[in-house]
Amino acid sequence: MPDSTTSHSTSLDQRFTLPFVHRVRFTHHVAALTNPTLADVFRDDASAASRRAVLVIDMGLHHARPALAQEIVRYAQAHAAQMPVPSEVLVVHGGERAKCGMQTVDEVLALIERAKICRKSTVFVAGGGAVIDAVGFAAAVAHRGVRLVRIPSTTLAQDDGAMGVKNGINAFGKKNFTGSFAVPWAVVCDAELLRTLPVAVFRAGFSEAVKIALLKDPTFFDNIAARASRIAAHDLDAAQPVIERSAALHLEHIAQGGDPFELHEARPLDFGHWAAHRLEALSAYAVSHGHAVALGLLIDCRYSMLKGWLSPQDFERIQAVLAALHLPQSHPLLAEEAAILEGLEQFREHLGGTLTVTMLRGIGVGHEVHEIDTDLMRQAISMTAACAIA
Ligand SMILES: NC(=O)c1ccc[n+]([C@@H]2O[C@H](COP(=O)([O-])OP(=O)(O)OC[C@H]3O[C@@H](n4cnc5c(N)ncnc54)[C@H](O)[C@@H]3O)[C@@H](O)[C@H]2O)c1
Ligand SMILES: [Zn+2]
Repeated sequence: MPDSTTSHSTSLDQRFTLPFVHRVRFTHHVAALTNPTLADVFRDDASAASRRAVLVIDMGLHHARPALAQEIVRYAQAHAAQMPVPSEVLVVHGGERAKCGMQTVDEVLALIERAKICRKSTVFVAGGGAVIDAVGFAAAVAHRGVRLVRIPSTTLAQDDGAMGVKNGINAFGKKNFTGSFAVPWAVVCDAELLRTLPVAVFRAGFSEAVKIALLKDPTFFDNIAARASRIAAHDLDAAQPVIERSAALHLEHIAQGGDPFELHEARPLDFGHWAAHRLEALSAYAVSHGHAVALGLLIDCRYSMLKGWLSPQDFERIQAVLAALHLPQSHPLLAEEAAILEGLEQFREHLGGTLTVTMLRGIGVGHEVHEIDTDLMRQAISMTAACAIA
């Protein structure tokens, strides 16, 4: 006779879906009192105005625009019938330093505790992608998730970084090792903030626009090519349509690609990123994400060409556009091929499951591969390394 206590089991598999709204706005002069954009993102919540808020600002942005934090506070005060008013402003270190270690996360967690921010209260964050990632992680774990309103202030954060539904910091020598998926309450991009960017940081953001164009939209690639030299000259009028198109393509992929929380193995938006993340870590984050992505794209495009998928003519066009944007063509660390190649296994581990890397069959035509020919990839890396000598 079977023992009824050991043979009995119950399964409860309940499927559910959750409605998310990802509110993204593009505007000019976000803190101008007559601009309704920021206040309007709280339109869906009539109780928002009665809640608390804090503002975290990137030190690089704060130095470039010392009045901005108080302008945002004054704006919130003027729109207090619609939105929460920050009771405190915290300035945190900008750049990748914000993501290296727990310091920024701890500072923001302490602020959230001190200012009595609840799950319906808001953390506003204004800054580059690194600060947004670190502050977003703190907001995602405090009380298991408080509202986050992102005000991205770099080209990269506006055309890619702040569109995502993830956050994170670096740990154990690996990019984004610690982090979470969390949909922000809203993202408000102000084109005027890009005026004070150092020109190298301004240009670096366009590697992500080239990436998404190569994956999804050959016409967009032509458009970037036609504007590249004006963009490299910090021309905001030339840059703005590119930033908005890139953001829209990223957002569309996240919202409509069927895998916002990256449960599947394919991660097309990470085209060129396995080598980029490895290079960033190997350089102790001296190579910026935007520059590393440009180099990662060159490596994977060269590999696609060596495999016979991408024509040499298309490769040359891609290389020419990156050069016209004044993005790097090479880096001394690429001489360490074996160390760079370790990035492939780290990438697989980060994604989980089978290795899945996107390669190109043409401009605008990405395709997934699950195996890499190591000898050819070494060749692609060493050809990219050799560009420094040329
Ligand atoms: N979560 C995501 O989905 C996602 C996607 C792409 C990139 N990222 C992350 O974004 C980070 C890169 O972000 P980034 O390219 O914005 O660089 P960044 O955040 O490192 O900022 C670069 C520099 O610009 C300064 N700065 C910011 N705004 C300024 C302004 N308006 N004027 C003057 N200086 C200003 C910063 O202080 C910093 O020194 C990387 O860590 C990358 O991993 C995240
Ligand atoms: Zn990226």
